[in-house]
Amino acid sequence: MQIGVIICSSRQPRVCPQIAQFVVQTIESTMLRSNDAFPRLNLIDLIEWNLPMFDEPDLPSQITDHVQYRHAHTRAWSEEIQRYNAFIFIVPQYNWGYPAVVKNAIDYLYNEWKGKPAMVVSYGGHGGSKCNAQLREVLCGVRMVPTTQTVELSFPSRDYLVKAVKGEDLALDSTSESGVWILERQHIAAAYSELLQILSKNEA
Ligand SMILES: Cc1cc2nc3c(=O)[nH]c(=O)nc-3n(C[C@H](O)[C@H](O)[C@H](O)COP(=O)(O)O)c2cc1C
Repeated sequence: MQIGVIICSSRQPRVCPQIAQFVVQTIESTMLRSNDAFPRLNLIDLIEWNLPMFDEPDLPSQITDHVQYRHAHTRAWSEEIQRYNAFIFIVPQYNWGYPAVVKNAIDYLYNEWKGKPAMVVSYGGHGGSKCNAQLREVLCGVRMVPTTQTVELSFPSRDYLVKAVKGEDLALDSTSESGVWILERQHIAAAYSELLQILSKNEA
């Protein structure tokens, strides 16, 4: 059982990898405590995939085998996404929406996403609620099953936002009893439990 954690920012500098790490560590510490079955969490960094703007000639929903894609980059992306049973999207809000890089990555495929559970963790000055809702709608478009519980991480001060824009270290700590996003750690754990529930229904 593998869950893909998609890093949805491709700018440099950026804070998305730090936030992905915080989410993964929060999940791992919660799950270790609760002794639940523990799928492997793997990071998928869209910067490393560096997909060109969508350039396949055919409708992805009509593709039933990855060899039918014209381009090698699409075949490789298809194989990568097929490996996972579920996904966690770590996504910043840009101008009230989600970054184009993640829409492009989604549009390349269809059947590889279809039926799989997804959890969206957004972040921004006000938690990125608009991008969270928009991305969840798009995920439904490729027939994924988003959790009803969302996670929205708000930068606690203007200082944090300025640091984030510069890609500086936010000193996020998923284990300390103080610090930022204590309550949000519970939201992450709750949404992740729901993700696992959807996953176990899928597997049954
Ligand atoms: C193009 C762009 C648009 C942005 N728009 C918003 C926004 O609508 N709401 C918000 O809270 N922050 C916004 N921000 C600030 C981001 O929350 C902040 O830069 C954050 O670090 C972005 O995540 P990243 O560093 O992982 O790319 C925007 C940043 C960029 C680069």
